[in-house]
Amino acid sequence: MGCESKTCMLVLPFLLLSAWYMQRYCVYGEPQVPCLFIFGDSLSDSGNNNNLKTIAKANYKPYGIDFPAGPTGRFTNGRTAIDIITQLLGFENFIPPFANTSGSDILKGVNYASGSAGIRRETGKHLGENIGLGSQLTNHKAIVSQIETLLGNAEKTQEHLKKCLYYVNIGSNDFINNYFLPQFYSSSRFYTHEQYAEALIQELSSNLMALRAGGARKYVLVGLGFVGCIPKATSNRTNGSCVLEQNIGPLIFSDKLRSVVDQFNKHFSTDSKLIFINSTAKSTGDLSGFKVLNAGCCSTRTDGQCVPDKTPCVNKNEYVFWDQFHPTEASSLHTAIASYNASNTDLTYPMDINHLVHHQLK
Ligand SMILES: *[C@@H]1O[C@H](CO)[C@@H](O)[C@H](O)[C@H]1NC(C)=O
Ligand SMILES: *[C@@H]1O[C@H](CO)[C@@H](O)[C@H](O)[C@H]1NC(C)=O
Ligand SMILES: *[C@@H]1O[C@H](CO)[C@@H](O)[C@H](O)[C@H]1NC(C)=O
Ligand SMILES: *[C@@H]1O[C@H](CO)[C@@H](O)[C@H](O)[C@H]1NC(C)=O
Ligand SMILES: *[C@@H]1O[C@H](CO)[C@@H](O)[C@H](O)[C@H]1NC(C)=O
Repeated sequence: MGCESKTCMLVLPFLLLSAWYMQRYCVYGEPQVPCLFIFGDSLSDSGNNNNLKTIAKANYKPYGIDFPAGPTGRFTNGRTAIDIITQLLGFENFIPPFANTSGSDILKGVNYASGSAGIRRETGKHLGENIGLGSQLTNHKAIVSQIETLLGNAEKTQEHLKKCLYYVNIGSNDFINNYFLPQFYSSSRFYTHEQYAEALIQELSSNLMALRAGGARKYVLVGLGFVGCIPKATSNRTNGSCVLEQNIGPLIFSDKLRSVVDQFNKHFSTDSKLIFINSTAKSTGDLSGFKVLNAGCCSTRTDGQCVPDKTPCVNKNEYVFWDQFHPTEASSLHTAIASYNASNTDLTYPMDINHLVHHQLK
């Protein structure tokens, strides 16, 4: 994006070089990180579920009605939060879904996120197939070996992968599509809220270590929102208030996730940096521009996703939610900008994405 004025001034005396620089850095722009790898669920999925046997897919209208390419499998009307962050980082194109990397530049990153997926393997499987976090890591290994083929050797590959940003936004489904559904999953019989959050964090941490072994050094870890306040949870209530019990586990999980950030930053202080995004921070919660918080903009099926081909609400920018689970592009824009440029450490800890990508690792 940015035509760095310093860069341009330095090269101006050398006309030919300058023209080359202008083309390379000013017209097309270089992203602030060379590559971005995305792990997560339907908040980030950009088409990985399209060909899976599951009802958790969104490659039909009205999903995607505000996306340049129409419905793609994104679970919202337009861009997801990570799509917008990708643009703020200066990437010319969105990061391709793992399911369709053919013809894409995988050196710039891959999106492994899968709707209904969680940290636990069984999460969301009552809806059909999905790609859980463990399998997303397996897919990443396959991409790393393709990158090795492209770059010629393991050393160059590691050098490249160290410069990338790793975005991990997962865990809501381990509650919504696991712990809160005792008719399908036994986790709530074996674990208290606290124990379950701890088990999720343990599993997530070992996946973060595996990512590290694969070269990851800069991570963005996203905490969970108020899961008990999404329309799917509140629509059932006569007074529309949050299901407070369903916020307990997610809030414990987010607290622990923030501690994981501290632990990794301390333990790997010489070569790594992680940040935590607080999805329940007051600054994220500044939704004063939005009028409707307790219902999605589209008409929903009993499972909470949009009814195919039904015309959605007209005033979608006044809605926080697109369907009964997922934010509208308007509210994701709010989240993405705040995560990229945060005014305080309440929202991004210990720094925002902009500072993370410019942070010099030793
Ligand atoms: C797959 O990726 C290619 C190259 O980026 C793109 O042209 C094509 O539209 C994509 N196909 C689908 C189904 O997303
Ligand atoms: C909504 O209420 C019905 C009937 O009380 C209940 O069977 C169902 O599980 C509830 N759904 C949610 C998401 O709480
Ligand atoms: C709202 O309704 C639920 C039951 O549907 C009840 O448990 C809760 O206390 C009510 N909250 C308020 C503020 O009235
Ligand atoms: C997130 O921010 C809220 C206040 O805005 C704070 O109460 C909460 O402790 C924060 N959560 C974490 C995990 O830092
Ligand atoms: C973020 O902050 C930087 C530095 O203050 C500014 O140049 C940039 O325009 C901001 N970006 C956004 C998306 O707000």
